[in-house]
Amino acid sequence: MRILAIETSCDDTSSSVVENGNKVLSNIISSQISVHAKYNGVVPELASREHIKNVNIVVEQALKQANISFENFDKEIDYITCTYGPGLAGSLLVGVMTAKTLSCIYKKPLIPINHIEGHIFSAAIENKELKPPFLAVVISGGHTELVIIKDYGKYKFLGGTRDDACGEAFDKAAKILGLPYPGGPIIDKLAEQGNNDAVHFTRPMMKGTWDFSFSGIKTAVLNYSKKVDIKKQNVINDICASFRQAVAETVVTKSVEAAKKYGLKSIALGGGVSCNSLIRNMFKKECKKNKINIFLPSPVFCTDNAAMIAHVAYHKALKKKYVYPNKQVVSIKPSLELENW
Ligand SMILES: Nc1ncnc2c1ncn2[C@@H]1O[C@H](COP(=O)(O)OP(=O)(O)OP(=O)(O)O)[C@@H](O)[C@H]1O
Ligand SMILES: [Mg+2]
Repeated sequence: MRILAIETSCDDTSSSVVENGNKVLSNIISSQISVHAKYNGVVPELASREHIKNVNIVVEQALKQANISFENFDKEIDYITCTYGPGLAGSLLVGVMTAKTLSCIYKKPLIPINHIEGHIFSAAIENKELKPPFLAVVISGGHTELVIIKDYGKYKFLGGTRDDACGEAFDKAAKILGLPYPGGPIIDKLAEQGNNDAVHFTRPMMKGTWDFSFSGIKTAVLNYSKKVDIKKQNVINDICASFRQAVAETVVTKSVEAAKKYGLKSIALGGGVSCNSLIRNMFKKECKKNKINIFLPSPVFCTDNAAMIAHVAYHKALKKKYVYPNKQVVSIKPSLELENW
């Protein structure tokens, strides 16, 4: 079964062709970072305009790389899928309209997918051994969530962020320190040259809940940065290292505790912050200590990509969860929550 996927929930335009859920024939990602960097964050209107410019090119490239032309599309592609939420309304619209158009023209069933389900299962693209039940740890630009995955489509939400998401905290801390957007990768890099214990940032453990809160650490970075000379590279490096250490300890400790409490033998990471080198290493170490299997997606599958959407769509297709756009309306859901199906 071959699926053509389109993902445009935020600021990456992506399209992918995936065979039987795991064989990625193409995964094209057009990043808009250069457009948004000067504003220190994603500007929704600019994001939609960039998607409009790029989406056809990206879909064409994904098909071409998978050796599929519009002439043999009908024979080679079985389903079309797209992200329909959560995300920026204008961005989602571009992907959904493109997918609906292709679905109408080629009379292929359309599978609308929740973006967060894509992140949850992104480690399963390359690891066929990752099978439910497991604990999903989604740490992205807009989410920080712990979810028990009983099966594809069967979820128990444990906790999420009460304020800033994990990636958002990295981006905001970077902005405070005068570092470029997105903040996660640059903080990760500079932290390697710094001292993890130079500054003590309180770990927001939110005991008694599985929720997270990162706005306090961000404010602590702001307050500390006013007291020191952040023009000095070693000062910046130390703040980055101490901040990264505090965030990593919080995420890893709570996740491992949750897996133990619910008797889950595997943890899978997803979302852009799963690229973080310290978080990856800390998860490996702590999981080994606690005899838990850890599944980490390759960096290309951590941040937004259409292959993860195709992977979930494959499992939905197996359960006949798809629609024909002329029979049922598929519309965007910018505030979509995780739902069972
Ligand atoms: N090495 C890294 N360390 C920490 N954070 C990182 C790293 N690489 C990327 N990030 C962060 O990942 C985030 C982007 O991830 P992703 O694309 O999954 O988020 P999003 O799609 O914007 O949000 P969501 O999926 O919640 O809608 C940014 O906040 C970025 O700073
Ligand atoms: Mg995302």
